[in-house]
Amino acid sequence: MAAGAVAKFEESFAQWLGVKRAFAFWKGRVAMYAILRALGVGEDDEVILPGYTCVMDVNPIKYLGATPVYVDIEPITYNMDVGLLEEKITPKTKVIVAQHTYGYPCEMDAIMDIAGKHGIPVVEDCCLALGSKYKGKLCGTFGVAAYWSFQWNKPFTTGIGGMATANDRELAEKIEAFYREELVKPPPKASLMLAIQRIVYRLFIFPRTTALATSMFRWLTKKGVVVGSSTTCEFEPVMADDFFMGISAGQARAGLRQIKKIERNVEHRRKMRGLYEDILTEAGWNVPEIPDYMDPVLVRYPVRVADKERAIAEAPSKFIELGTWFECPLHPIETPMHLYGYHEGMCPVSERACREVVNLPTHPRANESTAKRSVEFVSEIGQASG
Ligand SMILES: Cc1ncc(COP(=O)(O)O)c(C=O)c1O
Repeated sequence: MAAGAVAKFEESFAQWLGVKRAFAFWKGRVAMYAILRALGVGEDDEVILPGYTCVMDVNPIKYLGATPVYVDIEPITYNMDVGLLEEKITPKTKVIVAQHTYGYPCEMDAIMDIAGKHGIPVVEDCCLALGSKYKGKLCGTFGVAAYWSFQWNKPFTTGIGGMATANDRELAEKIEAFYREELVKPPPKASLMLAIQRIVYRLFIFPRTTALATSMFRWLTKKGVVVGSSTTCEFEPVMADDFFMGISAGQARAGLRQIKKIERNVEHRRKMRGLYEDILTEAGWNVPEIPDYMDPVLVRYPVRVADKERAIAEAPSKFIELGTWFECPLHPIETPMHLYGYHEGMCPVSERACREVVNLPTHPRANESTAKRSVEFVSEIGQASG
């Protein structure tokens, strides 16, 4: 059992979500690892996930010796195409990961039905979907467990950070056992550096400064001066000795402050989504319709542009906060995808989305003016055809 601020953060998060237990970790990927391990994922097992994700979401599967199996996405919500799910299930399938991409909820009824029929547990990747609902129920409450990320550009941030939530007592007990016996303590130097980075973030990072700050951050990460979101070995994929790390008290305190603001954060993101839809429609964009039974709370607003490379090249000089997720089916573009069992052509709908989609800010520091400037910018580039 964690102590002090960490325990309070875990309890408050579990209470907000309405689940039995929550366990805080250094990053979202560590939370995912803990859940998969507790579910017994190992050599010769297969884990199904969408072929439109971050490679850090595939690493825990590889670390456990299992094989990732990629399902293509559907083009509106960028989530797993449930029509393709069942054909990917084999006797080796151990877990299905339902990733709520950008904050759009997956088709949970269909996923739970198919998984139930085959007796396979569903784990929800909620790293991009804090507060999203499917048929009135919060994402993160459908599967046996869910995991969350509190990295810089996630729904709320503790610098870096993650949470595993479980509604199944037995599973929670298994996670707790690793947590108690094996969790590595965050080094004080990294915790202090992260605290400084959080202050810099609070004071200086706004939609107009993000592009410059991001390139500085990447440069400083390479020099080893700041606590980066990923290390080089994570792209190989090699599990670092200190991978299974807990969260620091400072991160937990930052998380507790954010939990108090969740409802405001969620409401703001709903409003930003509405604004983007209106402004894009006014600017002549064809805005895809999301089914009424979904209540997405978007971490970023995705749009398909005619020339993604040009958009990425021009955004910084125009002070536009443009996101590139996902640059390839296993983001980022540098990922050696063959090492992860992904080969070109496996997920064509995803590959097209990777070529076309950029994303725009919805976070609490973005406002109507941000949305207008962002839409003006992407309108200069133009909407992808078809
Ligand atoms: C969909 C998704 N899942 C999981 C992760 C891993 O989260 P973290 O960076 O906190 O390990 C990411 C990271 O960006 C992500 O985009």
